[in-house]
Amino acid sequence: MDQVRTAERILQAYATVEGAGVRLYRAFGYYELPQFDPFLMLDDFRSEKPAEYLAGFPRHPHRGIETVTYMLEGTVDHEDSIGNAGSISAGDVQWMTAGSGIIHQEMPKPVSGRMGGFQLWVNLPRKQKMMAPRYQEIKSDTIPVISPRRGINIRVIAGTLAGTRGPIRDIVADSEFLDISLGPDLFFTHPVPQGHTAFAYVIGGEGTFDEKEGHRVGNRDLVLFSDGNSLWVRSFGSGMRFLFIAGKPIREPVEWRGPIVMNTREELRRAFKEYADGTFIKKKP
Ligand code: CO
Repeated sequence: MDQVRTAERILQAYATVEGAGVRLYRAFGYYELPQFDPFLMLDDFRSEKPAEYLAGFPRHPHRGIETVTYMLEGTVDHEDSIGNAGSISAGDVQWMTAGSGIIHQEMPKPVSGRMGGFQLWVNLPRKQKMMAPRYQEIKSDTIPVISPRRGINIRVIAGTLAGTRGPIRDIVADSEFLDISLGPDLFFTHPVPQGHTAFAYVIGGEGTFDEKEGHRVGNRDLVLFSDGNSLWVRSFGSGMRFLFIAGKPIREPVEWRGPIVMNTREELRRAFKEYADGTFIKKKP
């Protein structure tokens, strides 16, 4: 039977400062634990003032998580301790598994005066916290765009839509990541596995995710869905664009400080001690 998910909570992204002074919007993070399990955080670094981003995210460690960077405009130059270096440009995705540890830097640069994108943190279960670090970088033109009906365009980054599987695979927390654009006054439904955490983050236009209540949501609104097996959404006259993200909850204790997320305080303490004494990186290029 169809059990449509409803908007359980609607939150607004809030302004915060990260890295070396980058102003960004946080859709959810530490204070919302564990409602978004297996997801830890979603940052929105779209900017009207790219100069605010130039300080970037110099050299910093990660352990125990995966990070997903999805660019809409501009580029991010990156370099890490497992020997990767490159730049992520508009439409590209980088899915990085920090596992036992990675040290990297992420430096945003505007292109034609514009800069913007998103970074999602996905938790790793206890068994995989110390897995070997790895990353997948996906260029924009290899991300399939599905148009199930006129006026609807969906970029399938991870997961499967209408038989098409997105290029990001082998994600530990069985996740789905779609960028959905609806033209004016359209509705769309989509199956979502029962029991998975699911949310939508609106990045343009307006619409509603709740057939009965009809809450109006717009840019930088975040909708956390109740459980169910399908998503229902309708755009208003402006159309609507949103990220739809779902994944299987891990349901383990979370101990989180800065860029490191473990299960126990002892593991956190060890991670920071190793970073201080130079033994943090387990895998060298
Ligand atoms: Co980072």
